[in-house]
Amino acid sequence: MKDVILTGIKPTGTIHLGNYLGAIVPTLELVKNHDGQSFIFIADYHALTTLRDKKLMAQYSREVACAWLACGLDPKKVVFYRQSDVPEIFELFTIINNVTPKGLMDRAHAFKAAKEDGKEEKVNMGLYNYPILMSADILIANAKYVPVGADQKQHVEIAADIGKAFNALFGNILSIPEPIIKKEVGVIMGLDGRKMSKSYGNIIPLFCPENELLKCIKRITTDSTAPNEPKDRNHMIFQLYKQFAGSDLDNKIGWGDAKQKLFGAINAVISPMREKYNTLMQSGEVEKILSDGSVRARTVARETLSRVKAAVGV
Ligand code: ADP
Ligand code: TRP
Repeated sequence: MKDVILTGIKPTGTIHLGNYLGAIVPTLELVKNHDGQSFIFIADYHALTTLRDKKLMAQYSREVACAWLACGLDPKKVVFYRQSDVPEIFELFTIINNVTPKGLMDRAHAFKAAKEDGKEEKVNMGLYNYPILMSADILIANAKYVPVGADQKQHVEIAADIGKAFNALFGNILSIPEPIIKKEVGVIMGLDGRKMSKSYGNIIPLFCPENELLKCIKRITTDSTAPNEPKDRNHMIFQLYKQFAGSDLDNKIGWGDAKQKLFGAINAVISPMREKYNTLMQSGEVEKILSDGSVRARTVARETLSRVKAAVGV
């Protein structure tokens, strides 16, 4: 079997520049030069750990799907689907729960962070088991390469550990995945200096109108370094400019000018995609694409699940 690529994004908010640079661009680059199968999906069950509003669930799922398509995902080449349309994932989840040591979940970063914040009691089991569901997403499709942003590395490593634990008990049934991380991108910082994340309300949306994009960029926190003084090259303005313009910004530039330049660089790349995104959001095309994709995803998922069930004897 040829190597399989797989990744997912959860519909917990509007797609932002971190998702674009950390996950969408690297995945589409990888897929472009790949002659094996590729799977990209909307991780809606994962969103349930925090999202409890059916209108928002539908809205964000649609936004995430249209964003992928606007950025160039070709649904003829890629199996593109919604996680909730592939019930085999949840059967595999139940099975692999039994080969997953609790300690592995205790060390998973989202749970650990909540615990260190004194919020362990409030953690729901969806969040606690999140890495096991993510493992099922990956293992069901026999994925070898999982392109993700740097923050998801640990989750893909957990999927590999769970796959190995299963194989050690039941034979060589599951493919063992590895994360593919574009090091030059790293973690994109948000408006407040923390990781840019849908969960933190600190994002620059990928497809907001031009004037809103400029407003957002103007809100990026800067320090009091004067024009002509050297600035911190790790600041997100320099980080983002490099990614979008493909070159470095002079670090003695004033912050105001730097923001204008950054806006120009981002807008030049995003404008054509933004138009495509707005058209897709108005049309019914995306529903049809996702439903065709789920048929193709289920064919592979059924095959993996029947191998797994035969191996465990159920
Ligand atoms: P969020 O944290 O905004 O909810 P997700 O967890 O849904 O984003 O992530 C979807 C993909 O985007 C993952 O591959 C993740 O690693 C990547 N990603 C998310 N935020 C960033 C960021 N700030 N920098 C780089 N990659 C990111
Ligand atoms: N957990 C990922 C995130 O928050 C989303 C995701 C769910 C995923 N299942 C996946 C990513 C499988 C890669 C492979 O970003």
